[in-house]
Amino acid sequence: MKRKPFIAGNWKMYKNASEAVTLVQTIKAAAHTVSDVTIVICPPFTALGVVSKILTDTAIQLGAQNMYSAPEGAFTGEISPTMLKDVGCRYVILGHSERRQYFKEDDILIHEKVKTALKYSLVPIVCLGETLAEREAKKHFDIVKTQFDECLARLEKDDMAKVVIAYEPVWAIGTGKTATPDQAEQMHSYIRRLLNERYSQEVGNRIPILYGGSVKPDNTKSLMEKPNIDGALVGGASLKAESFAQIIIEAQQTHEAGINS
Ligand code: 13P
Repeated sequence: MKRKPFIAGNWKMYKNASEAVTLVQTIKAAAHTVSDVTIVICPPFTALGVVSKILTDTAIQLGAQNMYSAPEGAFTGEISPTMLKDVGCRYVILGHSERRQYFKEDDILIHEKVKTALKYSLVPIVCLGETLAEREAKKHFDIVKTQFDECLARLEKDDMAKVVIAYEPVWAIGTGKTATPDQAEQMHSYIRRLLNERYSQEVGNRIPILYGGSVKPDNTKSLMEKPNIDGALVGGASLKAESFAQIIIEAQQTHEAGINS
């Protein structure tokens, strides 16, 4: 049996607080029949409070898009893990390629953030992925292995078992170019192998590996049918309640079809 499907919406720097309220209320109504999918919504920091209130009586979880690696201190402009917990977050996206590219985050900082998130009982969704140039140079497996090792490899096994991994090839983000299901599966099974080798089969079997990069309702099924693709980290399509809900429903149906076959 495959792992429970996991669909997360990364709203990036879109939606003010009142727009966020409307969007999350519509998602909540559209997804209320779905029980077998872990659903996480990651709005911008300024909307976490209002979204959290709307989600209190639902199974939909709240996540943040980033945090700093210290619990508090004189770090102007940063947000701490304890602040995220306080507002109701259970998850935090770390190491997104946009953080790496525009804010110069490196694997060392991401590793510090992952350790801090775990220490404060937040589940990190750790993003790995190569650029187009790296793929064209056939370095994509090496790049992802290095990111994996540097961001994650010194974690204790118990901590590692709590992590969620997202494979997001940079060339597929916001471009409309999805990795083919076969390309994505190749990388997901490679990451699963790293988990088995570096940690244990038990850890490898347990960890959800999400795919991210131009996921839409019409490509969700073909991705989710692959044995090592457990879900999606959705950008653009999570900003419309209808498409996000449809992705969740596709994930649930694909999972059910797999279980029953
Ligand atoms: P898109 O779905 O818009 O390509 O974004 C993917 C992403 O970056 C999710 O974190």
